[in-house]
Amino acid sequence: MSAGKFYVTTPIYYVNDQPHIGHAYTTILADVLARYHRLSGAPTFFLTGADEHGQKVARAAERAGMTPQEQADTTVVRFQALWKRLGITNDDFIRTTEPRHTRVVQAILKDLHERDDIYRAEYDGWYCVPCERFYTEKDLVDGKCPEAGCGRPVERITESNYFFRMSKYQGWLVDYIRQHPAFIRPDFRRNETLGFLRKPLNDLCVSRPKKRLSWGIELPFDRDFVTYVWFDALVNYITGVGYGSDDALFRRWWPASCQLIGKDILTTHTVYWPTMLKAVNAPIPETIFAHGWWLVGRDKMSKTEGNVVDPMAFADRYGVDPFRYFLMAEMPLGQDASFTEEAFVRRYNTDLANDLGNMLSRVLKLVHSHAGGCVPAPGAEGAEEAHLREATLQAARAMRTSVEAMELDRGLASLAAALRETNRYFEKRRPWASAKAGDATALGTTLYHALEALRVVGGMLYPVMPEKMAELRAALGLPGQTSDFDDLTRWGVLAAGRRVGEPRSLFPRIEPDSRDPKLATAVKKDAMTPTPQTSPTSPTGPSASTAPTSGAAPVGVTAIAFDEFQKVQLRTAKILEAYKVEGADKLLRIVVEVGEEKRQIVAGIAKHYAPEQIVGKTIVLVYNLAPAKIRSVESNGMLLAATRGEQMRLVTLDGDLPSGAMVK
Ligand code: MSP
Repeated sequence: MSAGKFYVTTPIYYVNDQPHIGHAYTTILADVLARYHRLSGAPTFFLTGADEHGQKVARAAERAGMTPQEQADTTVVRFQALWKRLGITNDDFIRTTEPRHTRVVQAILKDLHERDDIYRAEYDGWYCVPCERFYTEKDLVDGKCPEAGCGRPVERITESNYFFRMSKYQGWLVDYIRQHPAFIRPDFRRNETLGFLRKPLNDLCVSRPKKRLSWGIELPFDRDFVTYVWFDALVNYITGVGYGSDDALFRRWWPASCQLIGKDILTTHTVYWPTMLKAVNAPIPETIFAHGWWLVGRDKMSKTEGNVVDPMAFADRYGVDPFRYFLMAEMPLGQDASFTEEAFVRRYNTDLANDLGNMLSRVLKLVHSHAGGCVPAPGAEGAEEAHLREATLQAARAMRTSVEAMELDRGLASLAAALRETNRYFEKRRPWASAKAGDATALGTTLYHALEALRVVGGMLYPVMPEKMAELRAALGLPGQTSDFDDLTRWGVLAAGRRVGEPRSLFPRIEPDSRDPKLATAVKKDAMTPTPQTSPTSPTGPSASTAPTSGAAPVGVTAIAFDEFQKVQLRTAKILEAYKVEGADKLLRIVVEVGEEKRQIVAGIAKHYAPEQIVGKTIVLVYNLAPAKIRSVESNGMLLAATRGEQMRLVTLDGDLPSGAMVK
């Protein structure tokens, strides 16, 4: 973790609607990163806020019969209340309608206009109203909006507007991205931006005539226009830390260390934003990190589908900290993930109720019944203790590394594994038997080491579950907040003789209750309870959703429940490029397109296919497989192939479908 300062931002959210789990995810992620960096001693600044101008907000206001400002004022409090409820520790909250922001946007516009980096011109082209973006004829896909996940009809527009000379910075931007591999992450998003930059970059239209849209920041040099909402919104990241108003503050925090975004707003952040900064001569952020999307079950979350997950309802039902934990543990950073109540309950019961909560209460019970309610003094460390110590400290180190590497899910998986190890240790050492046999040394040793493991894991989980982990620490007789990370990389910190708390159930087991009316709107029912399906490929036959009974699967085949299968996301992918991997005669490095995303995978098919044979084919990809390095080459997913003996054939599609389609 960097010893220097840490400045983290989230996108600022549109106030046209209420917050959903997509918003909650990014903000919790930023909070977790901020908390880890604070614990590691780095001065930290965390900014979030609201994007209040533009057509989306103006239209929502119109529908609600309010002025846009009223719309913003009533909606912004929902976001603020949610952040409070979710324990978000942002240092500032910026609203783009605040004078501190509008002043800076106008100053930048004026400066660029004076330097002729903004000029007026006639515009004739296509416009997507929901995305508020202009497109040229060649940008369109099938005559529709090319934006990922949009695809809606576009309108022809002819009007006079102001343009930012973005094209002028194209060469610089390409070089910059190439020379700064950490600027756009994950890697495949950098490639996506570089791919976008292969085409000539257009200048950016930064105005909207008031006669079409008046809800925005007025151009300082032409009162008939307001500022394009993205040009206005992106500036928040610097106005929030004193750009143009407090130089010392600005120098202290800018450039941002990590700007979190969703994959759909990649171009605005990796093309518009750096060129704008370059034009005003401000440093470029260290990292723009694009995460994937939460799907609900296997579907895109959308209002029309009625499957929008309400984070407030979820947190009310299951608690804030388990919700935070689930979101962080379930989504491999950068990839899409599936949100279902069942997956939540499964993870909660396994990781939290069983391996953590139950372990804690078992240890505390024994401490109370056989060690006078105080941390017992351990005897000499045996092989089992050494193993537990090593496994736990190793997991703590992995968690620290995972924060730096933006692989939180992996770090959390290591901590969960350390807890399983603690449970195994406990079962093996059988402290209750030591107590019965009157072996106080063995008893004390086991309890001490289990308590230490809980202290380390609990401390490392603190940024993810601050309230619950403060309770855990209190139960261990420690102050609420972990003082620093160093204690978490050492063993033997708990002082013998210190009083522990009463045994308590930190995470009571839960059952999913899809009948809860609040949650029924929070998560669409069929995403929680799979309907029985008949599938010719299902080993369990007619009802794949029922728990597999013995004998349901052919001998030697492990039957899996439908919800386990549901975890595997299969998607169609189009092979764009394929290469041999040097020094590995079985491997091909393959670049595939999955919807709007480009990915690299490594597949062991080189003995059966030459690279040129497979380019252009549409294959089936295991989309949510954790990334791995194969012979030092990054592989992001796995293709499906059928094999028998020496034969191998790729699984392809029986007809045309765009890449990125779900295979179910
Ligand atoms: N206002 C712009 C951002 C301006 S930043 C200078 C905006 N706002 S938004 O409210 O529409 O979306 C904010 C974020 O939510 C985006 O990062 C987007 O990727 C994210 N998400 C929207 N739906 C999502 C999921 N289903 N899952 C995860 N994140 C998703 O865009």
